[in-house]
Order: sequence, then C-alpha cells, then structure tokens
Amino acid sequence: MKRARPASNAPAADAVVALRGAMIAWRGDPFVVGAKRALAHDPDAIVAMAQGRIVAAGPAAAVRRTLPPRTPIERLPRDSLMLPGFVDCHVHYPQLAVTGSHGSALLDWLTRYTFPAEAAFGDAPLAGRVARDYLDENLRQGITTASVFCTVHAASVDALMREAAKRSLRLIAGKVLMDRHAPRALRDTARRGYDESKALIARWHGRGRLGYAITPRFAATSSPAQLEAAGALWREHRGCWVQSHVSENYAEIAWVKKLYPRARDYVDVYARYGLLGRRAIYGHGIHLAEREWRALAASGTAIAHCPTSNLFLGSGLFRWERAKKPGRPVHVGMATDVGGGTTLSFLRTLGEAYKVAQLGGWSMPPAHAFWLATQGGARALDLDDRIGNLVPGAEADLVVLDLKSTPFIAQRMARARDVHDALFVQMTLGDDRAIRQTWIAGRLAHDRDRATPP
Ligand code: GUN
Ligand code: ZN
Repeated sequence: MKRARPASNAPAADAVVALRGAMIAWRGDPFVVGAKRALAHDPDAIVAMAQGRIVAAGPAAAVRRTLPPRTPIERLPRDSLMLPGFVDCHVHYPQLAVTGSHGSALLDWLTRYTFPAEAAFGDAPLAGRVARDYLDENLRQGITTASVFCTVHAASVDALMREAAKRSLRLIAGKVLMDRHAPRALRDTARRGYDESKALIARWHGRGRLGYAITPRFAATSSPAQLEAAGALWREHRGCWVQSHVSENYAEIAWVKKLYPRARDYVDVYARYGLLGRRAIYGHGIHLAEREWRALAASGTAIAHCPTSNLFLGSGLFRWERAKKPGRPVHVGMATDVGGGTTLSFLRTLGEAYKVAQLGGWSMPPAHAFWLATQGGARALDLDDRIGNLVPGAEADLVVLDLKSTPFIAQRMARARDVHDALFVQMTLGDDRAIRQTWIAGRLAHDRDRATPP
C-alpha cells in the first residue's frame, strides 16, 4: 500500500530528528536590546531537524503540532539545555602540542615553541592525525564552527579540510602566509603564498560547508609585497575570509611600527593593503587606539577576543568599553587561540572572559557571554544568517549542556534563580564535562555518555 504523503511540503516523519528539553535562543543582540530581551528561554521546547537544518524550534506543544504525524521525539535527560553550537573565531590547530608551554611573552613564545611545532606540518600524515585530534576535541567541547590557522604548508590545510568535510562541519581555515622573520622551513614568498592560497581556494572554498581564509600571520612576518598579494587575492575572491593578528603585545606593536613606518598605526598597515572589511577577522586587538577602533567599525572588520591566551602570554586586558563604544560598535567574537590559549573548553574561555571584563570594570552578563560564543561569533564571521541560533532555517549545529555535570556544580545549581544564573554557573564552574551532546548538521556527533556516537 502506498504511504499517504504529508499535506504540506514538510519532510517525512522518518527524516525528522526532534529533541525535547529546555532550550535557549536569541531574539536580538544583548549589547543592543539588553540581556533580558535578547535571551529567549523555553523550559519545555522541541528542536526539530531535517536535512541538516532546523525545521522547527520553540515551545513543545506548538512545535509538535507542526511536525508530521508519528515523528519520533527524543526526550533529553533531566537538567539538559539545548543551545546553538559554539563558534571559535580564532585558533591554531598545529599548536595543540605546545599548549601550556612555560615562561615567555608572545615573540619569544613564537620562536621557542610555536615555530618548531609548526615546522613539522610539512608531514601530511602528522597533519592528518593532529587535525583529527583537534576536531574530535572541538566536538567534545561543543565547538561546531571554527576559524582556523593552519601552517605555511598547503598540506596542513588539505589535512584539516579533509577531516572537516568528513564530519560535515562548517569550518573556515587557511594556509599561513609568512615570508620573513621566521625559520627558513616556515617561509614562503609573496608569489608562492599567493599561488598556493589560490589553489587551496579552488580546492576547498565553498565545498560543503567549508570556507577559505586568506591568512597572513601578522604584519611582522609578511613583507609589504606579501600583504599586497594577500589584498589582491581577497579582491579576486571576495567570498573568502581574511584572518590575522593585530595589537596583541607591546613589543609586537613597536616592531610593526618600525617595519611599516609610513602606516599611521597597526590597523592602518592592514588598511593600506586592502585587508579590512566584512569577513576580515583579527585576533586580540588589546591595545588599539580610538582611531583604529573607528577604522574597524567603519569597515565592518571583526576582532576575535582570546581571553585565555591574553592572560597566559601576559599580553594585556581586552577593553570592552572601547570595542562596543556606542555609535561605533565593533563586531567581536570569542576565541580560544590555542596554543597561546590554554583550553579548547568554550565554557572555561567564557569564564576567563568574564574575569578579563571584571578587571576592566565590566561584569559581563551571562547572556552577553553566551551570545558572543554563538550568534555574536557567527556575526563576527558574517555567518549569522546560517549558524549561531536555534531558529527554523538555521543549520542544525547545537549543543546539549548538562547543567549539573559535577556534584559541585549540582549543589550550586540548587540555588540558581533563573536561566541567566544557571548560564553563569556553567561559564564560571563548567568545562567539557558539561557538554552532554554535540549535534552537527542534524546528526549526533558527540555523546559524552556513549563511547562512540551512533
Ligand atoms: N601573533 C602572530 N602569530 C601568533 C600566534 O601564533 N599566536 C598568537 N597568540 N599571536 C600571534
Ligand atoms: Zn592566534
């Protein structure tokens, strides 16, 4: 007998995965509308997913009526909370093995630990192994999208993109451009960097959910000719991203000033080569002057805030009141910056961001922190129409938190007054143990309570 087709063009019941439990979603930017209005919390919700996208999300009773009859609905364990997957706006996967290396500030740390580690990534099998470890760790931490620095070797990009494609991830990555002030084994040339990046764009950009980022490491390790080539490449491939570093450390800033004496300031170096704009994102931005903030705001350029890295390397304290100054707010996303950063736990990253903000005189509300970790990060990457929220049409990348993941957290949660308080407990006390499940494109990709996900 032929099965009756659903009356609407809704997907068939067996194609829908529906999760029932508490959820949060975004109604707006908390920096604009305030924490209370921005955060929507539903204690009994359904998120329904099909073909990699969210088809319905909201109060269970209302959503159930929209689903095809007999759609199976999976009830999540008690104390679960569904939220959009975390977006890591700046991270170096080849630095996994040097995370937590003792005793130096940025420039010395690069020379002593980072460059030797990156030199090994000409070896494709090694790059493949680290790429797998890195992406598996991301899933354990609820990171569903990242903007990733590879090394100068094109093979390091191929390795990561291949593994990301296997997992259907939305991921941005690029080959580091670096033609001076680095060991010979890690240097390309302006020409070679341009050619290899162009070939990688052709190979990976727009394939599945992968995107390419043109990746000059920072102004100090690229000659003017290389920055010129990077700007030209971006003009030729406007859908690509640009990622780099800016204004992280005083010695770095002084060095860049010497290397580019005609530029007004650090941001102006990148501006001169056409490297500011929407889809350009720069790590750190700790010591920027007002003129630089204005140039970032006017061009739509984003900053990736990397709290654990800034604390670990002693680089300085990010200034939220400058970044989000009324009248010219700058897009900011949150980032781990491993291996300068010390963890891929996004909850711990938010906890450290709170402390950095405290030292700058701002007690960041949890709604702001979680917005920055999800929708804000997506906006910084110009992807907020696709990821970062649990709404119909969005890509189905989500995290299920366990709000009582340890006895210590459970006793604190007994006093949680509302969802804001509950979120604050998670970002202050939580870590990877709080990540119960991670869903990628509507598929369960990590389940804390099962050794291998189905
Ligand atoms: N500036 C240039 N390269 C790097 C890097 O790998 N990490 C950090 N934190 N800053 C940088
Ligand atoms: Zn970095």
